[in-house]
Amino acid sequence: MRIVLGVGGGIAAYKVASLLRLFTEAGHDVTVIPTEAATRFVGVATWEALSGHPVSNSVFDAVHTVNHVRLGHEAELIVVAPATADLLARAASGQADDLLTNTLLMAGDCPVLMAPAMHTEMWQHPATQANVETLRSRGVTVLEPASGRLTGADSGPGRLPEPEAIFTAAMALAGASAVRSAPAGADVEPDTGQAEAGPSVVRPLAGLTVTISAGGTREPLDPVRFLGNRSSGKQGVALAAAARDAGARVRLLAAHMEVPAPDGVELLRVETALELRKAALHAAADSDVVIMAAAVADFRPADVSGTKIKKRDDVADPVINLVRNPDILRELVEVRDAASRTQLIVGFAAETGDAGGDVLDYARDKLHRKACDLLVVNQVGRDKVFGEDTNSVVILSRTGSEPQEASGSKSDVAAAVIDRISAELSRVVPPA
Ligand code: CTP
Repeated sequence: MRIVLGVGGGIAAYKVASLLRLFTEAGHDVTVIPTEAATRFVGVATWEALSGHPVSNSVFDAVHTVNHVRLGHEAELIVVAPATADLLARAASGQADDLLTNTLLMAGDCPVLMAPAMHTEMWQHPATQANVETLRSRGVTVLEPASGRLTGADSGPGRLPEPEAIFTAAMALAGASAVRSAPAGADVEPDTGQAEAGPSVVRPLAGLTVTISAGGTREPLDPVRFLGNRSSGKQGVALAAAARDAGARVRLLAAHMEVPAPDGVELLRVETALELRKAALHAAADSDVVIMAAAVADFRPADVSGTKIKKRDDVADPVINLVRNPDILRELVEVRDAASRTQLIVGFAAETGDAGGDVLDYARDKLHRKACDLLVVNQVGRDKVFGEDTNSVVILSRTGSEPQEASGSKSDVAAAVIDRISAELSRVVPPA
């Protein structure tokens, strides 16, 4: 595959040398385009030696080859790392003041992945967030930066994800877009990048897009109060990491979470059930798998006060009226079926059981009502609290196959769920 690797002017540019090696060792043909600032961190000679191609950052070099047009047209994947705040801004506003931004504008349908790295304040600045949103709305995959120690004494979100995580996300994106752009019935092998990548790694979800919701929604009551729930997001985050490691392109729709999102996934933050519904329906439109691990509030306050609700001695204490939120999982299934889409939809259920039935009775009933393909059932109770690092679940299938138990760390449970999803998918589309 022909890859253009754009390198921005940040200290993390040195890590991109390892990313370049991962690409070339997997047999890809990589042209590196550093920005002017990037060459102050890592010199042109390094990129030329590692890629085996001449390296330039000017549209005025090799003018007779019209480099930016050629590179933009020929690229099958463009990866930009580190994507600095400046580079994100220039790409979002469509500037064309160097070879890399020119190439991005010439890229047409080519999948583009950007891996940002910068100080936390710069990443969280509304200007940067708006640029990221603009790029994402145009179909660019912008990874979330990793959290941890930054260049100075500061730490927080802003680190470049590890080269392996960027490599996996890039291969998943290229595979997903190859599968999507193939004519119906075409026999496309997603390029997993693993063909010549040394010891073979099993990536059963390579080429697939997986959308996962995680955490608990918060339903505002006034500017300072909300109705929430105890979900920590740990299980959803573990699922996102497991799906990523299985080679999928992962979109994480994150409601309130107590843990950071994993590297190498696309993150979209939501707050309320209604925001999650909108994001989930949008993301599901081109997802092969949707996993609803979020704890969605079933009800929201009927009225949201624009100002803080004050206690007053001269009026009665407020009564909160609730209205029902839409059932997102049920709606996802309905939309899929109406569109005759091939898509695996997985729900989660937290049950306590009561005098009317045990956990599995309620779970079977829920599977029937929600009509999803798999339901991962959690028993919750006084001794099984939210936020723990371990979990014990039963996976029920609508095809009626035997319930499957999984327990251990949330990563172990996530791996078991992803294995089960892979098995279900291979039953639908048997491997060639
Ligand atoms: N869910 C959803 N939309 C809602 C509520 C829940 O999509 N409004 C999803 C959850 O993400 C989860 C599944 O539905 O995958 C089951 O959630 P749960 O809260 O257990 O189910 P409820 O529909 O709330 O059922 P009940 O109130 O009967 O327990």
